[in-house]
Amino acid sequence: MDALVAHSLSKTYRGGGRSVRALDNVDLTIAQGQLFGFLGRNGAGKTTFIKIAAGLLLPSSGSVQLFGTDVVAHPREVRERIAIVPQEGKPFYHLTPREHVEEYLQVRGASSETSKSRADEVLKAMGLEPYARTPAMLLSGGLQQRTLVAMILATDAEFLFLDEPTLGMDPFARRQVWEVIRRSVRNGSTVLLTTHYLDEAEQLTDELAVIEGGRVLYRGTPDALKSKVRREVRLHFSSGFSAEELAPFGEVYAERGGLTVMTTRAQVEELTRMALERKIAVNVGPVTLEEAFLTLVGRDIEEEDSEAPLA
Ligand SMILES: Nc1ncnc2c1ncn2[C@@H]1O[C@H](COP(=O)(O)OP(=O)(O)OP(=O)(O)O)[C@@H](O)[C@H]1O
Ligand SMILES: [Mg+2]
Repeated sequence: MDALVAHSLSKTYRGGGRSVRALDNVDLTIAQGQLFGFLGRNGAGKTTFIKIAAGLLLPSSGSVQLFGTDVVAHPREVRERIAIVPQEGKPFYHLTPREHVEEYLQVRGASSETSKSRADEVLKAMGLEPYARTPAMLLSGGLQQRTLVAMILATDAEFLFLDEPTLGMDPFARRQVWEVIRRSVRNGSTVLLTTHYLDEAEQLTDELAVIEGGRVLYRGTPDALKSKVRREVRLHFSSGFSAEELAPFGEVYAERGGLTVMTTRAQVEELTRMALERKIAVNVGPVTLEEAFLTLVGRDIEEEDSEAPLA
């Protein structure tokens, strides 16, 4: 069964004499139990989609259904089944992490016993135990964000919207959050998350959509996205080659004082032979999701630019 179905979803923001088309006829389905990711540059339309799907913003046209219920027509019904971490949300300054989690669960209808034991569990899993009784205003930014995420993940709601959940968190905290997200999915939640950390998308998501200019540019598994760029190997050379020499082998980037070329497996031998002959150090590895993303979105931007009329 599909947990989320968006059909021809469009949104144009109007105001101040300007109009911005933030979503442009988006069709998207997310299956129940999926951990689905949104990637896309700043302003691509990710948050707009999430706000509409969570019933916080009205679309200009098109529809979204959650578990078969139309979000615009029946917002209240949908709200009980979802929980959302908004982008750059702030906790209630006078409440502690424990109060955030417990009281939110109680507002959602859990018993005080369940709320308490669930809060214990989640605060521990997210490394918030030492701060459980500290008012949020005295916590660092990353700890405040952890508090918000703990509050939402504790609900185990049927659909979790997480808009940049790990923003500002240290690498340890991010991994703790990943674990708690995975746990919610094991318990049956469906998740839609946005992130600018490509390693996070790669580690966490079953499938992802690349959003660009309010449209879905690409949808598939992280592995499929990587193979779509048809370059499976990255070779990094310390100084010695010129970009022109490497250009015939694939995309070339200046990086860490040398050059990186993204190329195919078939070219690796030739390139390493050239490097060894000239005593240039070479480092070989797989193409990352980040490189695939940059290539894919970069290509789209170039195509758009080339369509623009010459001034
Ligand atoms: N309230 C608003 N009023 C007018 N324009 C808006 C509003 N909110 C967003 N926009 C515009 O809509 C477009 C999409 O914004 P959105 O916040 O959905 O992007 P995003 O993909 O979430 O970006 P980010 O990665 O920076 O969070 C942008 O051009 C943005 O400037
Ligand atoms: Mg956003």
